[in-house]
Amino acid sequence: MTLTEIMETLPYGPAPEAAKPALDWLKAHKGRFQLFVAGKWRNPASKEWFTTINPANAQKLAEVAQASAADVDEAVKAARKAFAGWSQTKGHVRARYLYAMARQIQKHARLFAVLETLDNGKPIRETRDIDIPLVARHFYYHAGWAQLMESELPGYAPLGVVGQIIPWNFPLLMLAWKVAPALAMGNTVVLKPAEFTPLTALLFAEICQNIGLPPGVVNIITGDGKTGAALVEHPGVDKIAFTGSTEVGRIIRKATAGSGKKLSLELGGKSPFVVFEDADLDSAVEGVVDAIWFNQGQVCCAGSRLLVQEGIAEKMYAKLRARMEKLRVGDPLDKAVDIGAIIAPVQLQKIQQLVQKGVEEGAKLWQPSWAVPTEGCFYPPTLFTEVAPASTIAQEEIFGPVLAALTFRTPEEAVRLANNTRYGLAASIWSEDINLALDVATQIKAGTVWINSTNLFDAASGFGGYRESGFGREGGKEGLWEYVKKIEVHNTAQGQKPRARGLTARASAESLPPIDRTAKLFIGGKQVRPDSGYSKAVYAPDGRLVGEVGLGNRKDIRNAVEAARSAQEGWRKTAAHSKAQILYFLAENLSERAEEFARRLSEQTGQDGGAEVEAALEALFTAAAWADKYEGLVHPTPLRNVTLAIPEPIGVMGILCPDDQPLLALARLAGSALAMGNTLVVVPSPLAPLSATDFYQVLETSDVPAGTFNIVTGERDELARTLAEHDDVDAVWYAGPQAGWALVEKASAGNMKRTWTLPSSGPLPDTEEILRQATQVKNIWVPYGA
Ligand code: NAI
Ligand code: MG
Repeated sequence: MTLTEIMETLPYGPAPEAAKPALDWLKAHKGRFQLFVAGKWRNPASKEWFTTINPANAQKLAEVAQASAADVDEAVKAARKAFAGWSQTKGHVRARYLYAMARQIQKHARLFAVLETLDNGKPIRETRDIDIPLVARHFYYHAGWAQLMESELPGYAPLGVVGQIIPWNFPLLMLAWKVAPALAMGNTVVLKPAEFTPLTALLFAEICQNIGLPPGVVNIITGDGKTGAALVEHPGVDKIAFTGSTEVGRIIRKATAGSGKKLSLELGGKSPFVVFEDADLDSAVEGVVDAIWFNQGQVCCAGSRLLVQEGIAEKMYAKLRARMEKLRVGDPLDKAVDIGAIIAPVQLQKIQQLVQKGVEEGAKLWQPSWAVPTEGCFYPPTLFTEVAPASTIAQEEIFGPVLAALTFRTPEEAVRLANNTRYGLAASIWSEDINLALDVATQIKAGTVWINSTNLFDAASGFGGYRESGFGREGGKEGLWEYVKKIEVHNTAQGQKPRARGLTARASAESLPPIDRTAKLFIGGKQVRPDSGYSKAVYAPDGRLVGEVGLGNRKDIRNAVEAARSAQEGWRKTAAHSKAQILYFLAENLSERAEEFARRLSEQTGQDGGAEVEAALEALFTAAAWADKYEGLVHPTPLRNVTLAIPEPIGVMGILCPDDQPLLALARLAGSALAMGNTLVVVPSPLAPLSATDFYQVLETSDVPAGTFNIVTGERDELARTLAEHDDVDAVWYAGPQAGWALVEKASAGNMKRTWTLPSSGPLPDTEEILRQATQVKNIWVPYGA
């Protein structure tokens, strides 16, 4: 026997991590856990308990309280009471507590790791080397933001009580992602762990006790989806942060619609793993192992679609099969095991059914020659080749160790395939050509893109989705905005022009033309008549008719969205400098016609039109100024890489304008959205639409590309509904009455579009906030090293 032969045939001996410390901890609690509310342990009002098992051997680990609506209420009350003090606590003091949490987690790292592996079934290698270290890192990192909040987020305040609902795939890590930023920013929390994996959250509750965290700042309530729903619906909650399935995310979007609760959703994915022919194939194969067999593939950002360039596909598959043959599935506490147990029988069945479907739909299945343990919930690593792009296994999240491989010929085709999904959580790109890799990275619609790497996470980098993968970011500075709100200042000090008064008299009937021509809609760069054939009268505050506008309907909105979609790619790619030039040109042309606009404004609003035109010009200048200055960040993630946090346009946006200062609102909202690279369907205020319709004449003379800026007049809520329901619209900003907020938020759940609701009158948000709403951050990880 040669040495090589010996090495290749050497069997693995068992290398078990002892379960005893964790089992002792369970025993010390007599295998039963209450709810952690107001710093104390209490029985559930429901008197109900459920069991959590070890999926690797189906044995019961403990009984856990099922929190009812009454318990949720107690927890929210405790968090509310604690908020009064916690929100006033100095940043430095909050930083001390977060630091203490990080230290405690490190000190008990092995207990946490073993407990997590027992409860979840993931390999000890992962809990020990990835989950728990990242948890500690998250608390350290956010201790820093607590310290810096005052100086780095001036003018922002905590939201209040935050309800947090997390899944079972990274139980403690998701807790850290939620709790750390919330506490850092001065909020108090009620957190519900997933019913399959409550134990590490309960151990974390003990840490909160041990470090003397003020009672009620963190409350942990265990339970299933019913408990989650009660938390979502509780009127005393100011924000819901959720990670889990897109299906439940949609329910939560609808349930919170119109409630004023802030919402962030981190949902499913079907992330592409793109391998170009010049990639380092051996590295790429290791990448695939990490992408889809990490945590049994139960990862929202799992690289579950392998896209390989045609010329190297067979070679890549051969290497992959050889590697899969060597993977080890089994006891998660064994330190030499790569793939542990699937969380529960229900998930195992889901995987089996989807694999069956893949076979039925004609894809070619490959699994290693060895068998997985029959006791417990195990599934072998699985490779599908010859997968059709539209097939179920290429489109649906399997959430298991199953990879679907497709081939492409050109980079353009790779981008098209990568984006052929309703999700947009992450992507991984493999090429030795950095030009190609970065070019493709900017074109893939996903919140995180890893170049020549995959599944890298760090507290300093934001994580979150595009499209139906949800909205909001966790981690990085971008993640902090989810847990703060602007402090309302009730004076005019924040750059808001005071509302001018007393000019109604000047707009006398004699100085006006009797009735204006009917303003048309502006779609795809052309003035068009409304599909309905109807017009709508516009009156002055004193009841005089000042003009008419077209009554737009669903069809007009659809046409406008189509125009905006066609223009989107071109406008997005237009150089920032050119976008700025066009915005300046818009201002210049508006200024040419300042008097005419001022008169129109005075007629419609009875206010000083001249001052508003001036303010609108200034707003366009501000938007132009930001077009090439709204910068991203480079996050210092602790690896040899740069992580580029780049604000990107959201895409096609519907903007329903407020009633006050109609021209200024148009300039500030639409101008900023345009500056960031979005294309727009603008619905002017129904009370004062004429300034917007006049504005299309300015657009026509300012080199604004056709379809970039569309204007549809009509009934606000009717048009808002159509926009919010439209699957090709990526965001809707709605300024209008509260009833409309609920309508827009609910209707947006279809494709999980971003929504932003504003009052119909009163001061406009400042530009900084508008720019943030007009963008979403993509984090591109670029490792380096020769
Ligand atoms: P799920 O979305 O039902 O569970 C996630 C969390 O939401 C749990 O804490 C659960 O108790 C809670 N929940 C359930 N229904 C709720 C409701 N109506 N209101 C409020 N909270 C509610 O996910 P589940 O059923 O465990 O897994 C189903 C599928 O979801 C998986 O096969 C996978 O495809 C996907 N999933 C995605 C995750 C991700 O990180 N993107 C995480 C977990 C599951
Ligand atoms: Mg369990």
